[in-house]
Amino acid sequence: MKTCTQIYEMKDIVKNLKRQGMRIGLVPTMGYFHEGHLSLVRECIEMADRTVVSVFVNPAQFGPNEDFKQYPRDLERDSEILEKKGVDYLFVPDAEQIYPQGFKTYVEVKGLQDKLCGRSRIGHFRGVCTVVLKLFNILNPDLAFFGQKDQQQAIILKKMAQDLDLDVKIEVLPIVREEDGLALSSRNVYLSTEQRKAALSLSRSLREVQQMVDKGERDTILLKKKIQDIINSESLVRIDYIQIVDMENLDPLPRIEKRALIAIAVYFGKVRLIDNVIVYVKE
Ligand code: PAF
Repeated sequence: MKTCTQIYEMKDIVKNLKRQGMRIGLVPTMGYFHEGHLSLVRECIEMADRTVVSVFVNPAQFGPNEDFKQYPRDLERDSEILEKKGVDYLFVPDAEQIYPQGFKTYVEVKGLQDKLCGRSRIGHFRGVCTVVLKLFNILNPDLAFFGQKDQQQAIILKKMAQDLDLDVKIEVLPIVREEDGLALSSRNVYLSTEQRKAALSLSRSLREVQQMVDKGERDTILLKKKIQDIINSESLVRIDYIQIVDMENLDPLPRIEKRALIAIAVYFGKVRLIDNVIVYVKE
């Protein structure tokens, strides 16, 4: 595996690969890998001729009171893991390269970026879209891989790719969970033992409402109430949002008609976790 820190070097490599007709796959990450990231890496290796993984903790997607400084980082461990998995290139730019002095251009996906997580994380998706578009421009991937855990992110990035005529296919892979149901997240390391136990209410509540939908419940007020009751039965939790929304415009749905995204965000102490499930209803 070759590690590149320079944009110009990475661009040269990509141009060469493209000249040889290679299909490039990109897994954009902020590092500190868990099985969720690795499932993306495995799929990328399977589908593309060459796999690039980027590691960049993007300051532009963290608010002033968020955990940019505390975000877990371990590049040495990440690099060893990728090497063993058979990744071809690791791209690790620094912030001065991505946002050089005088940087002024940002990408916004209006109408989608301010909903769900965007309501409490102002500017988050603007930061995500800007860095991902930069990575797409530097690495020119044919395929890019994201996790369903950040389903709103995936929906926004697909819209960005469509609106800006990008030649990249965005693949979204299922959430990877611990055996007890907790969705894998780099932020799980911050949870105390009690908070981790309480955090199981996320996946438990989503499983319950999935079953309610399977049995015919369509009323989203009742479904949201069920989730709220399960999560609030834990102590020391603060619900940020519980939403049942359309998969394209992220607008709240009064009833589940065909397909819906059930998304939740909850604070356990200072740790904010998200989880979701996509439910389908046969007509
Ligand atoms: O999902 C993430 O880890 C980040 O939002 C991403 C896509 C790497 C952009 O910084």
